Amino acid sequence: MEDVRISFFDTKPFDQEFFDRMNAQYDYTIKYFRSRLTPDSAVLSQGSNVVCAFVNDIISAPVIDALEANGIRLIALRCAGYNNVDFRAAFGRIHVVRVPAYSPYAVAEHAVALMLSLNRKTHRAFYRTRDSNFNINGLLGFDMFGKTAGVIGTGKIGKVAANILRGFGMEVLAYDAFPDEQFAIQTGVKYVDLDTLYRKSEIITLHCPLTRDTYHLIENKSIAKMKDGVMIINTGRGQLIDTPDLIEALKTGKVGSAGLDVYEEESAYFFEDFSTTVISDDVLARLLSFHNVLVTSHQGFFTREALESIAEVTLDNIRDFFQDKKLVNEICYQCERNTCHKQESGRCF
Ligand code: NAI
Repeated sequence: MEDVRISFFDTKPFDQEFFDRMNAQYDYTIKYFRSRLTPDSAVLSQGSNVVCAFVNDIISAPVIDALEANGIRLIALRCAGYNNVDFRAAFGRIHVVRVPAYSPYAVAEHAVALMLSLNRKTHRAFYRTRDSNFNINGLLGFDMFGKTAGVIGTGKIGKVAANILRGFGMEVLAYDAFPDEQFAIQTGVKYVDLDTLYRKSEIITLHCPLTRDTYHLIENKSIAKMKDGVMIINTGRGQLIDTPDLIEALKTGKVGSAGLDVYEEESAYFFEDFSTTVISDDVLARLLSFHNVLVTSHQGFFTREALESIAEVTLDNIRDFFQDKKLVNEICYQCERNTCHKQESGRCF
């Protein structure tokens, strides 16, 4: 087998720790770069045949041109989402694989953690009691039991979230472009149209991918259809929500609270420490000023189990590519539209 040489972009210490440990079983050469993959940093891939990239790397047509010129044959995404890849530019030139699921539990549990914190205001209680303030005024929550949750997108993560919420005794309404009726029968989740979900849910949680159809799904018009004081949770992708519209609705109280693990412009801030500088993004700064908004920095996936699984599946994907095996986790622009006719080799092209 050809030597495998991986250029690993946007490396964090935890990436290196988990990949080095797992790579003991594969023995590939991995060069770790802190830099994100951009048209300027693509040059770092020289001498490698694989690029390993994450959610905020920019895999645009110019980047793909540069990677191809450097001899890159495979882009191994170490994430599930792939809205940052120009698949048309990559098709026929560089294969793209991903990690379709690493721990749906990690993300769904994080979504529910956001709900519980926002509802019972534990994020505020923490600061009060640390300051010896044992007053509970303003921390009033509601029983989730008997209330209605709306789950948008019932794939791997949405299903786990729906199950947890059913466990709380909530009514769960769901909307999905491809409903899973069997799942509905087994769990008592009810598929409804989006307007019904908006109208009836006390809590709405987003677990659909970012596509042309779901871009700014949550904006003025959809928010207007929701219950007053609705809680909105987004662990999907930032661009599912029009953030200025959300801010307006938070100001009027139409939206009662929001838990955001993702943000439209997150690539400029998330995963980095800005605690000694001033945030120049006024929209993010406004979001952070609300006591009823909890922002986390795209950490839904961040559990030990998920990191082990990400490292293992990524390195397996790379091994399968170089051993000319079927690429079960390959994705292309045709896969995205469910029109991909995989070759006999089990590859998209
Ligand atoms: P999945 O592919 O298993 O499920 C996505 C579901 O959304 C599918 O059932 C699909 O039919 C549905 N869907 C597609 N278009 C839709 C539309 N227009 N309206 C409603 N539903 C639609 O994906 P999975 O693993 O459940 O992940 C969901 C999303 O969560 C990912 O696309 C990614 O953006 C995000 N994610 C976030 C992470 C984090 O750390 N915060 C980590 C992993 C994923």
